[in-house]
Amino acid sequence: MQKELNKIAKDTNTFLKKFIKKQKRSELIIPMQYGLFSGGKKIRSKILIDTGSLFKLKYNSLIIIGSAVECIHAYSLIHDDLPCMDNDTVRRGKPSTHVKFGESTAVLAGNSLLTMAFEILSHKGLDISEKTKNDLINKISESSGHLGVAGGQYLDLSYEHKKIPQKKIIEMEIKKTGKLFSFCCAAPLILKNKNKKEIKKFEDIGADIGLLFQVADDLIDYKGNSLVAGKKTGKDEKKGKATLISLLGYKNTIKYANKLIIKINDKIKKYGSRSQNLSNTLSYILHRSK
Ligand code: IPE
Ligand code: IPE
Ligand code: MG
Ligand code: MG
Ligand code: MG
Repeated sequence: MQKELNKIAKDTNTFLKKFIKKQKRSELIIPMQYGLFSGGKKIRSKILIDTGSLFKLKYNSLIIIGSAVECIHAYSLIHDDLPCMDNDTVRRGKPSTHVKFGESTAVLAGNSLLTMAFEILSHKGLDISEKTKNDLINKISESSGHLGVAGGQYLDLSYEHKKIPQKKIIEMEIKKTGKLFSFCCAAPLILKNKNKKEIKKFEDIGADIGLLFQVADDLIDYKGNSLVAGKKTGKDEKKGKATLISLLGYKNTIKYANKLIIKINDKIKKYGSRSQNLSNTLSYILHRSK
């Protein structure tokens, strides 16, 4: 798994470096690169490639689409660490972007990474039809805005120190983290011109994968080692974050995550041996320590 992730990370970073190099220089490039290239598992690109392999899609196009997703992800982390959000000073074992470059620069570098995703999806080097590009941009925008990442982050902050029912916690985690995974699972079907119903089925699978990913992140915060995780742990409880762990406890949350894996595997099993990669990634997501 680590070898595959390393290859995806390397190919994604190579694409992004070339893409940025072709642009004019600006003062924001350095903090943008800091947020983008300071490590990161590239797990969203892995899910995109695993789903793509169900439909025999070209690896190179998927790396470009994954690069756009990784820009949005990097932006979301820069903003997530800001003093007005989670106020975290360490990310991927290094000072957070705002600690290194200042708050206003971090905000603007984050904004620039978000918009760079749309530049990537609309650029000429991505060899797909204009209609497909438009559909991808439409879907990734929806996943990132008030119905996705940004909306979920809003809920995450507004739920602090409150008793929130399970259904609402899940809804929040699906928005802040799940929706970007929904995009990764839907993109291969959009590339294959599949109908709305089929796309929706994969968006739902992606939402569950993203939920699993966030639950695992919450478990790492609860029990993990900050040196290994590359970020401070034990902070969710201090901040009064509404997580499944805060509601159900540690053991029940692990049970919940295992059931989620069974549910997702059940939905992809009809693809037979081709679903093995995706299935392995699910187990990696739950058992990782960073
Ligand atoms: C961390 O995401 C934030 C969450 C959505 C839980 P990742 O764990 O994917 O972060 P990196 O990119 O690997 O550092
Ligand atoms: C972040 O969730 C979700 C995002 C959309 C960025 P967390 O706040 O739990 O992520 P970490 O633990 O700081 O990486
Ligand atoms: Mg947060
Ligand atoms: Mg955080
Ligand atoms: Mg966390």
